[in-house]
Amino acid sequence: MITVLTGDCRDVLRTLADGSFDCIIVDPPYGETSLPWDRRVVGWPAAVRRLLKPTGSMWVFGSQRMFLECAAEFDGWKLAQDIVWEKHNGTGLFADRFRRVHEHALQFYLSDAKWGSVYKDPQYTNDARARTVRKKGRPAQWIGATGETVYRSEDGGPRLMRSVIFARSEHGRAVHPTQKPIEIVEPLLLYSCPPSGAVLDPFAGSGTVGLVAARHQRDCTLVEANEEFWPVIQDRMANDAPLFADPALSNPGPGD
Ligand SMILES: C[S@@+](CC[C@H](N)C(=O)[O-])C[C@H]1O[C@@H](n2cnc3c(N)ncnc32)[C@H](O)[C@@H]1O
Repeated sequence: MITVLTGDCRDVLRTLADGSFDCIIVDPPYGETSLPWDRRVVGWPAAVRRLLKPTGSMWVFGSQRMFLECAAEFDGWKLAQDIVWEKHNGTGLFADRFRRVHEHALQFYLSDAKWGSVYKDPQYTNDARARTVRKKGRPAQWIGATGETVYRSEDGGPRLMRSVIFARSEHGRAVHPTQKPIEIVEPLLLYSCPPSGAVLDPFAGSGTVGLVAARHQRDCTLVEANEEFWPVIQDRMANDAPLFADPALSNPGPGD
């Protein structure tokens, strides 16, 4: 089920019970553009903390600048890992710097939890090339001495998804000015939210996290403060979500 709540997330989330979510995916205002709603929201990492299960984790999109300037806000959270979203084209905010074609997403878990008990489902891609891999042995004086190993990796076989993920940005087809592509949200959600689990997005924008959750039959709570985007979320959930349904999940296979 997808639930849409309207208002400032710091107020709205007070009504929800502790430990309601397996995973939180957050794309907060970075505070780096002139868009009227793009103002940093102080206090949201503390406000969402109690809503996460002890086995849960939170992905946060942002820029390096945002994370450095807001580091104190993540008190009570431990950093697990980071990924880079590589875009096909970037934002030309500054002509005197490198053209920026990436954003970060950092994964956090509760500081009083153990990483070993945090839910995770490593993601794979099927783009490995057939090749023979020969690893030299390491002599005995090295820690972790090994003998030589030779193995063949399979053509097109699965390999662990890389931490730099390419996905076309939504420029030209977006219904929200900072809309995230489904292709970047999807692996994060599948990695962190168990089947039939529940995910929270406190800064929903156009509701991309809701679309991915619906596709993979996870419950999702979306919060959005700006009334301009409420019909956008409704429209995407009503019209895009059914088109985007995962056929493997919604269509019974032969013989079923
Ligand atoms: C970066 S955008 C999210 C875009 C979204 N990931 C998507 O794919 O469409 C951040 C959103 O947070 C909303 N927002 C800003 N302050 C908020 C607040 N205090 N509570 C809830 N939403 C807020 C903005 O209106 C904006 O739509």
